[in-house]
Amino acid sequence: MIYLDNAATSRRKPYSVYAAMLKYSLINGGNAGRGGNGLSLGGINTILAAQDSAAQLFDMRDESNVVFTLNATYALNMAILGTLEPDDHVVVTQMDHNSVLRPAALHGNYSVAKADKSGYVSPLSVRKCIKPQTKLVVCTHVSNVCGTVQNVAEIARIAHEAGALFLLDASQSAGSLEVSVNKIGADLLACPGHKGLMGPMGTGILCIKDPEKVRAVIVGGTGSESESIRQPSSMPEKFHSGTVNTPALAGLKKSIDFILREGVDVIGEHEHMLNTRLRENLKNISNVKIYGRNDTGITAFNIKDIPSEETAMMLGEKFIIRAGYHCAPLAHKALGTDKTGAVRVSFGYFNTIKDVERITDAVYKIANGAS
Ligand SMILES: Cc1ncc(COP(=O)(O)O)c(C=O)c1O
Repeated sequence: MIYLDNAATSRRKPYSVYAAMLKYSLINGGNAGRGGNGLSLGGINTILAAQDSAAQLFDMRDESNVVFTLNATYALNMAILGTLEPDDHVVVTQMDHNSVLRPAALHGNYSVAKADKSGYVSPLSVRKCIKPQTKLVVCTHVSNVCGTVQNVAEIARIAHEAGALFLLDASQSAGSLEVSVNKIGADLLACPGHKGLMGPMGTGILCIKDPEKVRAVIVGGTGSESESIRQPSSMPEKFHSGTVNTPALAGLKKSIDFILREGVDVIGEHEHMLNTRLRENLKNISNVKIYGRNDTGITAFNIKDIPSEETAMMLGEKFIIRAGYHCAPLAHKALGTDKTGAVRVSFGYFNTIKDVERITDAVYKIANGAS
């Protein structure tokens, strides 16, 4: 089996991730912040350590403003719905994932900035969507469909010029590209722990520069200020309602530390090198159409006009790739694949050139059979 679906989740993690999860579960196992006992305090220390590592990776000055969530979807919903008041307007883009589009639609007052055929959202197209009531601009850093990178620093600048906040969806860039909230100008950053960060499933991150600007949309037990019926304003408790997935955070800390040690640039260059080789190979196969830009470790393609799901079936069980619409219907409209979907190959740090050659051979066979 050849795993080429790292944009969905990183199947292989550094061994230290599994070891840390096991260690926390076997040796500690207590509920973080629930009492003054050693197990509970050990849980708090685990969360603090994970916050430290994430703050370092994303250049967050105050690590207590790093919040852990179940996944990127929860982080994005908390950021979008927690920022907007009923009359506020939000700008999203055509390349955004349903985890951005659906909360924006739920809010109601939103505009969608258009992308071109390569999946690029020009900052100008974002500027055109700005209204006097715009409170928030959201943009995906890297398209999960075709890998195109957006000029998010310029989009953040436009948002700030209009007096709005900028929320970066770093789901496909975290762990593969340098993501500094300060250099980009992101007021909020959301990402999963289980994709490029190579942490466990059931983890996500929300970085909030100014927590006073975001309401908690999920409230409840935090283990602190229990005598009050109001949600605490202290961080990260304001956004940590209910039991935190502490064993997974022990693992996430280790995966982020692995990335910090290896270097995001080294990881990103490896994934991009594999992607470049794949795209060069596919260009030489007639009947194959490639979408988007060669910016990262993600390539989307189709063979002739064959629906992508059929191509995936022909590739068989040996290749774990993703066909269809990737929870990003508007992105497929921009790329012109709204009728067929697309086959997506997404590389991770543990893929090799051999994997590229094997998927190339398989596509070659299907394309020739189909000609
Ligand atoms: C760009 C983008 N945003 C958000 C998400 C949602 O991530 P999660 O599954 O962790 O909620 C994904 C997942 O594919 C994604 O690619």
